Amino acid sequence: MFDSFIRLVREIYQTNDFIPLHEPRFAGNEKQYLLDVIDSTFVSSVGPYVSQFETKIAEYTGAKHAIAAVNGTSALHVALLLAGVKPGEEVLTQAVTFVATCNAIHYCGAEPVFVDVDTATLGLSAQALADFLAEFAELREDGVWNKLSGKRIAACLPMHTFGHPCDMATLLQVCNQYQIPVVEDAAEALGSCIVGSNSFDPSAASANEFAPTPAKHCGTFGKLGVLSFNGNKIITTGGGGMILTDDDELARQAKHLTTTAKLPHAWKFTHDQIGYNYRMPNLNAALGLAQLEQMPLFIQRKRELAERYITWSRRAGVEIVQEPNGAQSNYWLNALLLNDAGEREQFLTDSNAQGVMTRPLWELMSSLPMYSQCQHDGLPESQRLAQRLVNIPSSVVL
Ligand SMILES: Cc1ncc(COP(=O)(O)O)c(C=O)c1O
Repeated sequence: MFDSFIRLVREIYQTNDFIPLHEPRFAGNEKQYLLDVIDSTFVSSVGPYVSQFETKIAEYTGAKHAIAAVNGTSALHVALLLAGVKPGEEVLTQAVTFVATCNAIHYCGAEPVFVDVDTATLGLSAQALADFLAEFAELREDGVWNKLSGKRIAACLPMHTFGHPCDMATLLQVCNQYQIPVVEDAAEALGSCIVGSNSFDPSAASANEFAPTPAKHCGTFGKLGVLSFNGNKIITTGGGGMILTDDDELARQAKHLTTTAKLPHAWKFTHDQIGYNYRMPNLNAALGLAQLEQMPLFIQRKRELAERYITWSRRAGVEIVQEPNGAQSNYWLNALLLNDAGEREQFLTDSNAQGVMTRPLWELMSSLPMYSQCQHDGLPESQRLAQRLVNIPSSVVL
């Protein structure tokens, strides 16, 4: 199995050199737009590319508003603040994620509470969430409170792992029941959408507005959603992020907070609250715009690559992560599920020794020193994934 995997990856990427896990592709108007920015001298936070990029991301995702930020982490920070997360409160999220998800919660002065993921999506499990809330939540007039910690549960933050959409219809039903606002960490999920929902129950009164018909982009289900354009993502701005929302007032506040809370004026500098310098530079937005133009090609190539891995995995008898039913994934990072931690360790050691980069799942957030004291539900599925999962090279093949 291992030898045929290495042969396959080398055949796909047509090289005997080092093969990274994910590298960007610049095959469009990147140089032209970047030169345009340099010639204009508007390389920093003022310039037309930022609003063009925002408009095009809103069009692409179907969000009413898209607000650019300097990276996905800062976008998450502001999205959580706008969802109403305050110091001393809690945010329900998954332990299977990149550390930025939890750090953004911490920047708000709040704490993560970890709920398990499900096997089909690798994202927050609606069942585990319902079970957790049934046991610990108390719905009061001023919100939902955690009976164990005595703290308010301010938001729920599911993450679309490796670009595979969470079961948003069911998650929203559960969160609606407890009036918990949802912020989606869609950092990895540009180009991923839910095309039809298996678990969507049309008889549920409050759920109709969330019915994902015919296709709804990740990051547009919750009150707010967040994208990342870090160098390892499906498209990159070098560093960058985006807040998505359909709410006009939240969009206005997101722009205000990410741009130092400055009141618009031709020459006066007045700031009406403590804002953040989370502005995406024009230079980065220009790169993003050129990248976004290539999304249809990137998605097509990503899905072809996933198909090759899936075909190989069937022949090799290896379990592979595939998009959930009713969803279309961008297949940002492909993942294999090996039999156990021993096999996974061997696979990681051998493939990296042979110049083919592979990596394990992030260490679970609940086992990092900063978050090890946070409440969790036992996380059985997360633990299993952490033992078995490896990511394999997933750059777009041009
Ligand atoms: C799940 C997740 N959340 C948040 C982020 C943070 O994004 P950024 O690196 O742009 O700050 C990333 C990626 O880096 C991510 O993978």
